[in-house]
Amino acid sequence: MDVAAAPPLADTAPVGLREIQAPVAADLDVFRQQFRDAMRSRVRLLDTVVQYLLRRKGKQIRPTLVLLAAEISGGITERSYRAAALVELLHTATLVHDDVVDESDTRRGVASVNALWRNKVGVLLGDYLLSRGLLLALDDGDYDLLHVMSDAVRRMSEGELLQIETARRLDMTEARYFQIIGDKTGSLIAACMAAGAASAGADPETVARAKAVGETIGLAFQIRDDLFDYDGGGAGKPVGLDLQDRKMTLPLILALERAPADESKRIRKIVARRKKSRAQTAEVLRFVRQSGGLAAARGRMETLAVEAAAALRAFPESEARSALVGLCAYVVARGR
Ligand code: IPE
Ligand code: IPE
Ligand code: MG
Ligand code: MG
Repeated sequence: MDVAAAPPLADTAPVGLREIQAPVAADLDVFRQQFRDAMRSRVRLLDTVVQYLLRRKGKQIRPTLVLLAAEISGGITERSYRAAALVELLHTATLVHDDVVDESDTRRGVASVNALWRNKVGVLLGDYLLSRGLLLALDDGDYDLLHVMSDAVRRMSEGELLQIETARRLDMTEARYFQIIGDKTGSLIAACMAAGAASAGADPETVARAKAVGETIGLAFQIRDDLFDYDGGGAGKPVGLDLQDRKMTLPLILALERAPADESKRIRKIVARRKKSRAQTAEVLRFVRQSGGLAAARGRMETLAVEAAAALRAFPESEARSALVGLCAYVVARGR
């Protein structure tokens, strides 16, 4: 990451995932056990795919958020572990479905479920994971948790559909982009914070405050994800895939806004093409970098991260709160 992009919050809190997770490291182990148990199935095919998924765990940011939010809102309870497991089940379900929707053949550096077992298995497995998550809440009568999560799932589906609808029309605006990413990503991260706080027995006002912080973190998180398509991140991810797919994200939207009308028009035409040559994709990438769209998108992302970190100050000072501030910095600095 270059110096200009370094968020001002980076030097005040830990930015490595391991340090961020340290205050809840033992709790994350409890969560992992519940997460595993909740996915068990007697159907052999299901179990094979589940074992495959379990071998490649993600960053587990969402369960970390649930537990840290619980910790700053009164303390982790049994309900917090369930909320963490539920949220990671929903997240996993969404990723499996997303790879079917996006026709992606890789996830977490390995072959995606749809690539290995085909779309039908991806669709059914996603449904299975979703239902196991919701059942987890129902089994224990956690109706408030069920409500928060079902609403997040609704928003995620709407966000993905709005994205498809807009991609076809190519009339993406900044406002619409923010609605899409708020729905598809902000919703679940907001739900993590809300569920964590609620599981600690916090009052409605505190739950709402935690939720708002989550929504802001979620926006920054998705902008970082969208930036990977232009800068490759630290891990050197492939670039230009969203573009090939006619997916207009913040760097491109801001670049088009900044460019002269005739150039904007020319670039839009290229983006709209279903098939683009390598040279055409490279041209759009260059355009986004040179027009300042990339830098502007980074700026938006950092502003959001700083805003989220500032809002956390409403919670009492603690190790968990510092870890959450660290997570705000991590979200924008991460390389994967
Ligand atoms: C990926 O989320 C999906 C988005 C919302 C961009 P993560 O980057 O948290 O995925 P994993 O779980 O760590 O793989
Ligand atoms: C991730 O969206 C899935 C959801 C947030 C619902 P993307 O399609 O933008 O992200 P990746 O890059 O495949 O993880
Ligand atoms: Mg995708
Ligand atoms: Mg997608």
